[in-house]
Amino acid sequence: MKVHVANHPLIAHKLTVLRDERTDSPTFRRLVEELVTLLAYEATREIRTHTVELTTPVTRTKGLKMAEPRPVVVPILRAGLGMLEGMSKLMPNAEVGFLGMVRDEKTLKASTYANRLPEDLSGRHVFVLDPMLATGGTLIAAFHYLLDLGATEITAICILSAPEGVKAMENEFSGSKVPINIVTGALDEKLNEHGYIVPGLGDAGDRLYGVV
Ligand code: URA
Repeated sequence: MKVHVANHPLIAHKLTVLRDERTDSPTFRRLVEELVTLLAYEATREIRTHTVELTTPVTRTKGLKMAEPRPVVVPILRAGLGMLEGMSKLMPNAEVGFLGMVRDEKTLKASTYANRLPEDLSGRHVFVLDPMLATGGTLIAAFHYLLDLGATEITAICILSAPEGVKAMENEFSGSKVPINIVTGALDEKLNEHGYIVPGLGDAGDRLYGVV
């Protein structure tokens, strides 16, 4: 499993504003969108391409285009939805699927309550959008779901991650034949007793959309 922690002053700056409890929802949403576009740039670095020939106004040349089948972007509802716009900006021709997952606040176990995905993901690189990699429960359940559908490569894009969650993912997927990657804006200190990332940014869904 590959883990990439962003190391860029612009990402650090945006994360600092995002973490601040005084940052309001509209600003929070905009920053998440911007951060995802920056993280997606890194996450798509090894995306499959093929060579094409073309004519510029000056000469014949060769270039690269994204290979078929197209990648699939899967935001995990609800908070992952706030990341979709930023990802779509970078990769507008990707297909988009949805996975609704919720974690029980007592047991911290994740379960699926909705899904809208292609039936067969073979040959597809799936990009999973989930802002907070906390215990890893949600992403582990989501990744198994996608692997069962035949995904050929899976990359999670997370705004923040906790070491506990990254370790849980490593334990679960270190022997996976399918490449598994995590791209995250920062690796925080720890999880608290409620399963929140410390220092973190609080509940990402609530900060994006307000408390319901
Ligand atoms: N989910 C969140 O929204 N925040 C955390 O800190 C952990 C999980």
